[in-house]
Amino acid sequence: MSSSPDTPLLQLSGIVKHYGTVRALQGASLTVHPNEVVALVGDNGAGKSTMIKVISGVIQPDEGEIVIDGRPVTFSSPLDPRSHGIETVYQDLALAPDLDPAANLFLGREVLRGGVLGMMGMLDKPKMRRQADDAFARLSVGLQDTRSTVGTMSGGQRQGIAVARAVLWASRLVLMDEPTAALGVVQTGRVRALIESVREQGVSVVLVSHNLPFVFEVADRIEVLRLGRRVAAFTRAEATAERVLGAMTGALAEVPPGDPAVHPAATVPDTMIGTAINAGTDGTGRVDGTGGLRGTRGTEA
Ligand SMILES: Nc1ncnc2c1ncn2[C@@H]1O[C@H](COP(=O)(O)OP(=O)(O)O)[C@@H](O)[C@H]1O
Ligand SMILES: [Mg+2]
Repeated sequence: MSSSPDTPLLQLSGIVKHYGTVRALQGASLTVHPNEVVALVGDNGAGKSTMIKVISGVIQPDEGEIVIDGRPVTFSSPLDPRSHGIETVYQDLALAPDLDPAANLFLGREVLRGGVLGMMGMLDKPKMRRQADDAFARLSVGLQDTRSTVGTMSGGQRQGIAVARAVLWASRLVLMDEPTAALGVVQTGRVRALIESVREQGVSVVLVSHNLPFVFEVADRIEVLRLGRRVAAFTRAEATAERVLGAMTGALAEVPPGDPAVHPAATVPDTMIGTAINAGTDGTGRVDGTGGLRGTRGTEA
């Protein structure tokens, strides 16, 4: 199958993941287009981190489909998404505190020297440092001293290094789980600039965040997970805090039409029906007020 400009970069559908009796994902969907920043939002326990782990190959879903450029794929380990140009910034950042920023960028992917020295395992440190400095400059990660260990650096700087590492290796998509959770206002602004420069490089971003003002600033689209399912999707222009919060809490039922995971259910007053975009289907995606709505108490089959 060839990919047209409308073909999503990544599409997940019907994703089910149970942890024992906990139903973390119950038929969840997510759509990401090329060159797009998608915010994945939802209340605590909605399944956001589980979705990120499914896409990064850390866990395998019990059911469901992952499609890249129109082709079904299976991610059985974190190496599989990497081979598709997908990199993850984990919530704990996963940096080595005793190494400097450049070494962290190349952790597990060190560049060896040429010839016999390389065969003996000698690292090409100058080359890695040049590439690292270049990546930090390109992404405006402000590091005064690139030779200090990461453990001595501020939360914002560490965040920048973790994002730079993902961006250096990601050719298609960067996943970020709560990138601003531990950051102040200035540092959060820096992460916003990083996300914008990632998109300028033609790489998409899936961003999990509780920080709705931040989400409204950086996201092209917002997809809402609730109780392990996608219950709404908005373009930035459509999204208001009220609508997004309403979808997160279930007070306002806004359902992407054609979402196979969502069944018609209870009556919702017309005044509460908004538009929800399911760009994965027809791109217009207006809720027509007759079907595809789900009651606030989740009467799914
Ligand atoms: N490893 C695990 N073992 C058992 N339950 C888990 C595990 N990971 C997540 N869960 C549960 O799955 C649900 C979804 O979790 P999560 O994806 O972390 O939600 P979110 O990131 O939206 O807060 C929660 O009820 C959570 O307690
Ligand atoms: Mg989480």
